[in-house]
Amino acid sequence: MRGAGGSFASLKSGSTPRSPDDRPPGRVALRAAREADLEQIAAIWNYEVLCTDATTDTEPRDAAAQREWFARHTARYPIVVAALATPDATRDDVVAYGSLSPYRAKPAFARTVEDSVYVARDHRGHGVGGLVLAELIRRARHLEHHSIVARITAQNAPSLRLHAAHGFQPVGVERESAYKLGRWHDVAIMQRRLDPL
Ligand SMILES: CC(C)(COP(=O)(O)OP(=O)(O)OC[C@H]1O[C@@H](n2cnc3c(N)ncnc32)[C@H](O)[C@@H]1OP(=O)(O)O)[C@@H](O)C(=O)NCCC(=O)NCCS
Repeated sequence: MRGAGGSFASLKSGSTPRSPDDRPPGRVALRAAREADLEQIAAIWNYEVLCTDATTDTEPRDAAAQREWFARHTARYPIVVAALATPDATRDDVVAYGSLSPYRAKPAFARTVEDSVYVARDHRGHGVGGLVLAELIRRARHLEHHSIVARITAQNAPSLRLHAAHGFQPVGVERESAYKLGRWHDVAIMQRRLDPL
């Protein structure tokens, strides 16, 4: 099916109840990102940029670009990480991150943000993405943003499901608006409006 609802078809199939193994490991903690996390964030992000169509971005970030990205995320545009403590608790490893970014530069859009959630390949399917997205929603409400928009390449079933599970509604589909890795991609738009606290 290729109608506007077609790209959201993966939302219709019932979800399988999570087994205990699907739960995030207890040692995962959410916190604001720090400059020291940037290398691990870049490793997660650059893989998707170079090797998958999970993002329509095509330019990997080097260390300088990663620092600029971090600096652009001022207080109204937080970056959070999910970090897994090492067994000896001397260090934590970033296994996922998420961010809120301005949706449009025009002042009228000042209280609309766009989210990103990226989980390291070895840590997917255990609810970590859900933890990160829930934290972004919580922070967006505290920052008095009014809605969050997600732009998702339309075949990305895990991301569509993740956003639907967190109250995002399908808005529509841009047909073949992005070209990456040798083919055109539809981009699905989802949105969650935020109740004031
Ligand atoms: C999308 C992503 C963030 C989801 O994070 P995650 O920790 O793997 O997801 P969760 O375990 O919280 O599960 C989220 C939903 O996706 C579903 N899901 C997970 N893996 C899936 C898969 N391979 N196929 C279909 N659905 C899948 C889960 O069942 C769950 O849906 P449900 O609540 O209806 O059961 C993660 O897969 C990822 O980082 N992917 C690559 C980057 C990306 O696509 N980012 C989003 C860009 S818009």
